[in-house]
Amino acid sequence: MSATFYVHEKAGVDAPSHDGSQQKPFQSAAYAVFVQEDAKVLVYTETEDVKDYVEISASALKKAKKGAAGLKKKAEKQKVLEEQKQKKAEEDLAKQTAALKISIKKDESLPEAKKTKLVKITNYIDQRVVVHGWIHRLRVQKSKAFIVLRDGTEYVQVILTGDLADAYQTSTLTLESTITVYGNVVKLPEGKTAPQGVELVADYYEIVGLAPAGEEAFSNKVQEKADPSLLLDQRHLTLRGETLSAVMKVRASLLRSIRRVYDEEGITEVTPPCMVQTQVEGGSTLFGLKYYDQEAYLTQSSQLYLETCLPALGDVYCIQESFRAEKSHTRRHLSEYTHIEAELSFLSFEELLDHIETVIVKTIDYVLQDPVAGPLVKQLHPEFVAPKLPFKRLQYIEALEWLNQHGIKNEEDKEFTFGDDIAEAAERKMVDAMNVPILLTRFPVEIKSFYMKKCQDDPRVTESVDVLMPTVGEITGGSMRIDNLDELIEGFKREGIDPASYYWFSDQRKYGTSPHGGYGLGTERILAWLCKRFTVRDCSLYPRFTGRCKP
Ligand code: 4AD
Repeated sequence: MSATFYVHEKAGVDAPSHDGSQQKPFQSAAYAVFVQEDAKVLVYTETEDVKDYVEISASALKKAKKGAAGLKKKAEKQKVLEEQKQKKAEEDLAKQTAALKISIKKDESLPEAKKTKLVKITNYIDQRVVVHGWIHRLRVQKSKAFIVLRDGTEYVQVILTGDLADAYQTSTLTLESTITVYGNVVKLPEGKTAPQGVELVADYYEIVGLAPAGEEAFSNKVQEKADPSLLLDQRHLTLRGETLSAVMKVRASLLRSIRRVYDEEGITEVTPPCMVQTQVEGGSTLFGLKYYDQEAYLTQSSQLYLETCLPALGDVYCIQESFRAEKSHTRRHLSEYTHIEAELSFLSFEELLDHIETVIVKTIDYVLQDPVAGPLVKQLHPEFVAPKLPFKRLQYIEALEWLNQHGIKNEEDKEFTFGDDIAEAAERKMVDAMNVPILLTRFPVEIKSFYMKKCQDDPRVTESVDVLMPTVGEITGGSMRIDNLDELIEGFKREGIDPASYYWFSDQRKYGTSPHGGYGLGTERILAWLCKRFTVRDCSLYPRFTGRCKP
C-alpha cells in the first residue's frame, strides 16, 4: 500500500527519527521517495495564496526520484562499509582474544643476560644480553615485529617473533615507548643492513612505559616539516630525533676535544662568574639584572676575568655561557651561547695567531678521530674537509680591496672605505668565495673594543683577529690587549666607561704588567660550520634568541 508522506523543507528531518507524518515530516521529497518509491508526496508550500501541504508537481517528483536513486546508492555503499567495519572489529576482537591468551614469560633456563648499553652491544655477538631503550621505529606484522631501539648511545634493531610478536602487549606498542629486551645478539648476514651490523633476537621483553597513541602520538607532536617555532616549542621531543641528537653528540665531543687540547698546551681551566657589573663588548647588548638592590648584568664575555688570572695561574681558559641582548635576528646570533675563551701571556700577536689556528685544527682532528662524533660529522656533513695549518692570513685593508674588486658593497650600498664594518653578508660572501679558513687581522681602532692593543707600525689599526670559516663566517674573535695602564684608561674614556669599577681589571697592568692576548670561540658557530647546520639555533640544546626563552 502506498503511503502518504509530508515534506516540510524547514521543519522536516531526513532521518529515521521522522516517519513522514504531518507531525514528523521529512525534509526533502527525494528522501520521501527513497523511503517508499510509490509514496504520495505532499510538499508544504508557502505562497501569497496557499500556506498548506500540496501534492508534489510532476517535474518535482521526477527530480525527487533522481535524488532518491542517489540516496539509495549512498545507503548501499554505507552498508558495505559498515559490514566491513563490523568484520574488521570482529577480526580485531578475535585477534585480541587470541593475543590475550598468549602469555609471554621469561625463560629462566636460558643463560644469564648481560646488561649493556646499545653502543657496546657488538661486544656481545652470540651472547644473551638485556638492554633498555626507547622505540625509535616500529613495524608489527603477523608473527614478526621489527623495532629500532634507541638508548641515546646507539640504535639497534630488535626482532620479535612468534608469540612475542603476536602477544597483546606488542599490539599496544607505540613510538617512544620504553622497553626492556632480553635476547641474543646476532651478526647480520651479508646483504642485510641494520644499525651496527647486528640484530637483537628477543626471547622476552617488558614494557616500561607506553607512550600515547592517536592524537597525542609522538609522530603528531613532532612533524619534520612543521613550522620551526612549533618544533622549538617541542624541543624536548625534537631533541630525540637523529639529526639534533647527532649534533649534540658532536657538541659534547667538541667540548671534550678542546679541553684535551688546552690540557696538552698546559692551559688551566677556570670558571669566572656569570653575574657581573662590568661590560666587555659594548653596552648595547647587555642583559640587565636586579642583583639584590644593585644593578648587575649577565656576562657578555669572561675575558676580563681571564686576564686577571694570568699572574696567578698562567695561561687560562674557560667554557662558559655568554649573554648578548642581540637585536639582530640572524642565523648566527643567539642571546645565550657557550663561549670558549682563552687568555695567554708573554706572547706576540703572531704567536697568538699561531696558537688560535693550532687549537682549532687539533680540536677538529680530535673530533674526527672520536669513534662516536667522527662518523656523525661524516653523516651530517659528508663533504667536510678538516682545516689544515697554516690558515690564510688576510689584513682588514686587504679584505676591503678584495670586496671592492668583487663589487660587494658596504652597509650603505657603497664601496668599502677604511673604518667600515664588514657586515655578516659581505664577510660570508668573501669567505665562501675563498672557501678556506681565514685569519682576518688588523681591524681599525674605532670598530673594535676598548681593550685592544694598537699595532706599533700603524696606530690606526689593532692587533686583532677574527677567524672566518666558509658558510658561517666569524667563529672566533680575539686580540692582543692593551698592557699599558694609561693607554687602557684612554680606551675606557673613548668608550665612555668609568674606569673606577674596572680597578680589578686595570690592576693586571699595575701589579706586574705583561704582553698578553686572547680570544673567544662561539661553540654553536663552530658546530654550524662542522655539522653543516643552517643556523646556530640547531647547535644549542635549548636555544635562546630574540623572543624565545622557553622551554
Ligand atoms: O667577537 P666577540 O664578541 O669577542 C668577545 O666577546 C671577546 N671578549 C672574546 C675574547 O677575546 N675573550 O665574540 C667572540 C665569539 C664570536 O667570534 C662568535 O663566534 C661568538 O663569540 N659570538 C656569538 N655566538 C652566538 N651568538 C652571538 N650573539 C654571539 N656573539 C659572539
